[in-house]
Amino acid sequence: MFLKIVRTWFALCLMTLLAASAQAQTAARLPNVVILATGGTIAGTGATSTTTVGYTAAKVGVDDLIKAVPELKQVANVTGEQVFQIASENMSNEHWLTLAKRVNTLLAKPDVDGIVITHGTDTIEETAYFLDLVVKSRKPVVVVGAMRPSTAISADGPINLYNAVLTAGSPDAVGKGVLVVLNDQINAARDVSKTNTTTTDTFKATELGLLGYVVGNKAHFYRASTRKHTVDTEFDVSNLSALPQVDIAYTYANVGPTAVNALVAAGAKGLIHAGVGDGSLPNKVRPALSAAREKGVIIVRASRVGQGIVARNGEANDDQLDFVVADTLNPQKARILLMLALTKTNSTKEIQRMFYTY
Ligand code: SIN
Repeated sequence: MFLKIVRTWFALCLMTLLAASAQAQTAARLPNVVILATGGTIAGTGATSTTTVGYTAAKVGVDDLIKAVPELKQVANVTGEQVFQIASENMSNEHWLTLAKRVNTLLAKPDVDGIVITHGTDTIEETAYFLDLVVKSRKPVVVVGAMRPSTAISADGPINLYNAVLTAGSPDAVGKGVLVVLNDQINAARDVSKTNTTTTDTFKATELGLLGYVVGNKAHFYRASTRKHTVDTEFDVSNLSALPQVDIAYTYANVGPTAVNALVAAGAKGLIHAGVGDGSLPNKVRPALSAAREKGVIIVRASRVGQGIVARNGEANDDQLDFVVADTLNPQKARILLMLALTKTNSTKEIQRMFYTY
């Protein structure tokens, strides 16, 4: 009898050990993905389950975001860090520098395979493009958000987070630059924009197109951006504690020079002119921009249209004015590239090269 008990106990111990070792082997095969949480609607809470506007962003901590999606354990070894807890309209250059440095430190570790950043959707495209230009690794970096707070019926955060972690752990995402994953779609940081104020299908690279889908527990890629990014850029933020001041002056019918003059007086080193059409300069704005250039301010002609190229020497004689054109970058992304460009040079020729490279 005693022998039988010992044998049963021994068999049970062996089975537990084997199960633990099988579990450890599976975990070892899974990619190691770090989730850096920054706030946003994905971490938002509302008063009721039908509150999808008027909720409070940036309330739920990273551990609870991870706990809400137990399925993550099946696709990655996930760890979380709360980097900030803010609504993304409050994202600043200083936040970006802190985030980029943390991403670079983590990706330099051999045991980190990919990063997911949870973020408010309002400025997700800006943070993603900033990181696309300054992350020094080919490992996947995926920025993810949600359009509905965590407390809503059919909240999109959990599935978006799951898809983002899958993508960050996918070997197919290596070398693709920083990615934005929402609504089962993978987009390139450079090309994606928020196109609708409230719907879950808001993120589009309208004309240049998405890179792929996350379907059936797999990230599927069909194309990649031809513009240089991450390890192939000349930008290095490791020793920067601030970025040069670059602002955006928006143009509309009846606009005058007030905004341009005020931004220059406030110390702008660069100005993005969000012009109409192909970046056209109204007669009342052109002299203010020209005077700013003469004071050394770099002027980039962009467009408020949202799609298409701003053609050099098209609607303005850029060579004569010594202006730069934004190519296809929207004004908010042109601002990011100009800030980084100004950390390297003041030459408009060099800055124009950068706008055709990144
Ligand atoms: C935010 O950008 O922080 C709020 C809006 C959102 O995440 O959708």
